[in-house]
Order: sequence, then structure tokens, then C-alpha cells
Amino acid sequence: MNQDVMTACEWVMVCDATDIPENGGACVKVEDVQIAVFNFARRNEWYATQNLCPHKQQMVLSRGMIGSAGDNCEPKVACPFHKNTFSLQTGKCLSNDELEIKVYPIKVENGKVYVSLE
Ligand code: FES
Repeated sequence: MNQDVMTACEWVMVCDATDIPENGGACVKVEDVQIAVFNFARRNEWYATQNLCPHKQQMVLSRGMIGSAGDNCEPKVACPFHKNTFSLQTGKCLSNDELEIKVYPIKVENGKVYVSLE
């Protein structure tokens, strides 16, 4: 994400970095919105998406398996229910063109995780 966008965000502190398992995710709530936060430690990257899987409207994406897809190693999460796979960078579904999820800006500073819902 470019620096101008990052600085324009209104950040909300959602948890300690240690609350999120390495190479896994956890759900946090911001203003009634469930956000899946992923600590992709293998790549030293963090991602935030909606927790709702749009396939069957299940709040499960934070429990999905994360990994990398394709030649460009796109970071992805697979829904634990029916394995639809979503890009953690763009939110596009990599296995079904009709599905998409929201992705949110995320940063970690001084051991705290911040997300922007804008
Ligand atoms: S509910 Fe997520 S793939 Fe079906």
C-alpha cells in the first residue's frame, strides 16, 4: 500500500501482536465489524480482511489456512469450510470469480496491531 494512503488512514488499535498466532489468524471486533487479522510470520507480513466468508455467510476466515498462491506467491487464505481461497492483498477470490472479500490496511507498531476500516 502506498505511503500516502497509509498516512491518511484512521488507525484503531485492535490487539497486541502476541494475541495473533504466528502463521495464523484471529478475529477482532471493531465497531461491531468482525475483522480477521493474520500474522503471516513466514513472510514477515500482516493482513486484515473481513471475517465473513461470502460463500455461505460464515464468520470463519480468521480460522482459515494461510499460504501463497501462483508464480507471484500471492498471499492467500483458504476458508476452513469449503476451501474457497482469497487473496490477502486484494480480497479477490482465487477459486470463484463471483466472490470477493474486503481487505483493510494494517500495521504493527511497538507490539500493537492497528487496523483502519476506511
Ligand atoms: S463458507 Fe467459506 S467457502 Fe463456503
